[in-house]
Amino acid sequence: MFKIISSIKEDLANARDHDPAARGDVENAIVYSGLHAIWAHRVAHWLWVREFRGLARVLSQFMRFLTGIEIHPGAKIGRRFFIDHGMGIVIGETTEIGDGVMLYHGVTLGGQVLTQTKRHPTIEDNVTIGAGAKVLGPITVGTGSAIGANAVVTKDVPAHHIAIGIPAKTRPRQPEERIKLVDPDYYI
Ligand SMILES: CC(C)(COP(=O)(O)OP(=O)(O)OC[C@H]1O[C@@H](n2cnc3c(N)ncnc32)[C@H](O)[C@@H]1OP(=O)(O)O)[C@@H](O)C(=O)NCCC(=O)NCCS
Repeated sequence: MFKIISSIKEDLANARDHDPAARGDVENAIVYSGLHAIWAHRVAHWLWVREFRGLARVLSQFMRFLTGIEIHPGAKIGRRFFIDHGMGIVIGETTEIGDGVMLYHGVTLGGQVLTQTKRHPTIEDNVTIGAGAKVLGPITVGTGSAIGANAVVTKDVPAHHIAIGIPAKTRPRQPEERIKLVDPDYYI
């Protein structure tokens, strides 16, 4: 129980850090669909790994109906995960997401094949993925990287790089870009 409460507190603090529009914790807990989606996913994933898979899928689809955010219960997601705006997000079954990752609306972490293999991306720690970006296949987006809005990424992105365009091209991410990229004040 203590672990659940501290995890909820961490998520609320994370929402404040990532969104200048965020106000009190109570209000944020009520209005942020990204928080509802990740909290429900933690329950769905708990059910999934204990073989209550039908129930996990029902919960996940119900949350999709409520939030517009579809997270497969099999996806592994780390701490301080934040979704801004929500809506139109799809996260596939074999996706693995590290700590401190942020997604904007319209992001797909999807597969390119229909086989029961690792077919979705691995997103390492502290990655930001811009609105509408599609990250496809069992590729890795390295720690501290950023994916530009509407990019289509089908190849690995090295750590501390920026990927933009279709198909995405990468370039090193300069240290001074770090604050700019994580501060939504620049975007909204
Ligand atoms: C990709 C991104 C991280 C790059 O930031 P940056 O390094 O500060 O980039 P700059 O603004 O200096 O632009 C550098 C060049 O890349 C281009 N560019 C920037 N973002 C781009 C994108 N998403 N797709 C294609 N080109 C892009 C710029 O037009 C510019 O081109 P130029 O050199 O020909 O003038 C950022 O533009 C982005 O897409 N962030 C996601 C924001 C988001 O999703 N916001 C949603 C808020 S609701």
